[in-house]
Amino acid sequence: MDQTATGKLAIAGGAQTHSGGWPKWPVFDLMEEAAVLRVLRSGQWWSVGGTEVVTFEREFADFQHASHAVCVTNGTAALEVSLRALGIGCGDEVIVPPYTFVATASSVLQVSATPVFADICPHNLNLDPDAVEAAITPGTAAIIPVHIAGCPADMDRLRAIAQRHHLALIEDAAQAHGAEWKGRKVGAIGEMGTFSFQASKNLNAGEGGAILTDQEELAERCWSVHNVGRVRSGKWYEHQVLGGNFRMTEFQAAILRSQIKRLPEQMQQRTRGAAVLNQSLSEIPGIQPLIPEPAVTAHAYHLYLFRYISEAFGGHSRDEFVDALSMEGVPCSAGYVPLYREKLFYRKANGQGKWCAAGRPVDYTAVQCPVTEAACREIVWLSQNLLLADESSLSDVAAAIHKIQRAWTR
Ligand SMILES: Cc1ncc(COP(=O)(O)O)c(C=O)c1O
Repeated sequence: MDQTATGKLAIAGGAQTHSGGWPKWPVFDLMEEAAVLRVLRSGQWWSVGGTEVVTFEREFADFQHASHAVCVTNGTAALEVSLRALGIGCGDEVIVPPYTFVATASSVLQVSATPVFADICPHNLNLDPDAVEAAITPGTAAIIPVHIAGCPADMDRLRAIAQRHHLALIEDAAQAHGAEWKGRKVGAIGEMGTFSFQASKNLNAGEGGAILTDQEELAERCWSVHNVGRVRSGKWYEHQVLGGNFRMTEFQAAILRSQIKRLPEQMQQRTRGAAVLNQSLSEIPGIQPLIPEPAVTAHAYHLYLFRYISEAFGGHSRDEFVDALSMEGVPCSAGYVPLYREKLFYRKANGQGKWCAAGRPVDYTAVQCPVTEAACREIVWLSQNLLLADESSLSDVAAAIHKIQRAWTR
């Protein structure tokens, strides 16, 4: 064991456990450069009449085992467009997890519907099917499970619940490109699935999003909503439904067409990296990697999450641990707060702002999801690019945690 593994913590002025850096993100070369130049020189920069967006839609749908894809400006818009396409609006309730990015719930507010929070499972932090059942009311119209960190939620149980109660199931797969449930890629297992191509995502064009579905009619409705209410067969100035301009540019699609070629190999690297971490971290008392459902045949590992039990680290809080581990040269973060605690929902609960008053009022200040609250205190995030590192770099993650534990429990 080298000196750094036993010495003074980096946060106290000691040497870092890992000083060599981590794989840079995004990964690109002349392939992306050629793609951008191809669009630039063509002068065809927008998707109307172009080939890049439509081609990527076909490629992405095929990659994700879906029949149809509609590309949009970002993952937030993808959720809003999906909800509008399903006709969800005023008076409808949509069940969402509170351990997620704000867009999962804010998109529901954008269509004047009511987000209802249901708790998550402790082993994988995905929507808990029992909590979903308990949250269903006569006003419920849809469920949005999030495949958090790239780990598929229990799609068998959620689909059965949705079918039994005649609810739409929209997968928020913003973090789950390439993830699989029982050999089927996510996105069109429910009625629809939404993806993000924002800068940190495993498939990235800086910004971007897509909606997948197996149902042609839903795809057409998404297309209309994303294109200011036009219909494919209609005239340019013919707007049949309420929509917005959520069109992706040809530049974004051209980059995505290159990036998707890299994805299968990167997925293998991340899976290998996660296996190294699962092995080494689970040997550390007080560190618990998460456990996917057995039916998960591919985890996208947009994030690598593990639980930190402060009692095993001399009572030091998760936030102190995040600071100490980051200083050891392992970038990490504390992640989400329970979404219903965000000021946005406080304001909603208190009627601040001209929000749609229809539907069941929810007092978000009284919502309590204990599994989410514990997760927000205990979970640590490592980002996907770390998993692209070699085994020796990844072994520094466990070495750094051992070092911190020794220092704090001496
Ligand atoms: C779970 C989840 N849903 C939705 C989004 C929204 O995607 P975007 O940032 O592309 O709008 C994100 C992205 O951060 C996300 O992680």
